[in-house]
Amino acid sequence: MKAIGIVGSSREDGNTEILTKHTLKAIEEEGLDTELIRLAGLDIRPCDACMACREEERCPIEDDLFPIYIKMKEAEAIILASPVYFGSATAQIKALMDRTGYMSYDTRPFAGKVGGPLVVARRAGQNFTFAQLMYWFHILGFFMPGSTYWNIAFGHDKGTVEEDEEGLRTAWNFGKNIALLVKKLKG
Ligand SMILES: Cc1cc2nc3c(=O)[nH]c(=O)nc-3n(C[C@H](O)[C@H](O)[C@H](O)COP(=O)(O)O)c2cc1C
Repeated sequence: MKAIGIVGSSREDGNTEILTKHTLKAIEEEGLDTELIRLAGLDIRPCDACMACREEERCPIEDDLFPIYIKMKEAEAIILASPVYFGSATAQIKALMDRTGYMSYDTRPFAGKVGGPLVVARRAGQNFTFAQLMYWFHILGFFMPGSTYWNIAFGHDKGTVEEDEEGLRTAWNFGKNIALLVKKLKG
């Protein structure tokens, strides 16, 4: 059983990655395999609305997305993590959401999987971004466990999210609930 955390930050080793690793560690403690996938440095282009994916479950844009889509289909749990950029999820994670969402819309490979969002902000836009990510999980039929607060943490310079004790604890508890739900569903 595997959980993957997809980090939509442009910054390697940044706050979103730290928070995602923390959640994945909580999941690993429960015996699941985990993998972190960084979108930083990858070529993930936006959906061009060609509609080819509605005929066949793949995207004709030749970039780095399709191998990630295969990993998403193989995993039992998926976390989408994004920092807030101008009040919103990043362009990279939004491109991934749009294209994987449309590719899977008819075939429903994510229905019954477990997942949910993680968000990092400096100051504002976190609730909107959290909702943006939740829309994706909801429409695709994921089961989304909660935590002890909404999965949001604060940080700005690299590493400062580690000062947000409640944010870390929330991300940790979210990871525990992801693992618990996967085991209940698949164990
Ligand atoms: C282009 C850009 C836009 C940003 N816009 C916001 C914003 O609207 N609200 C906010 O609270 N933080 C904003 N931030 C700050 C980041 O969300 C914050 O630094 C976060 O910790 C970055 O995560 P990372 O270290 O994973 O890249 C922005 C940062 C960048 C680079």
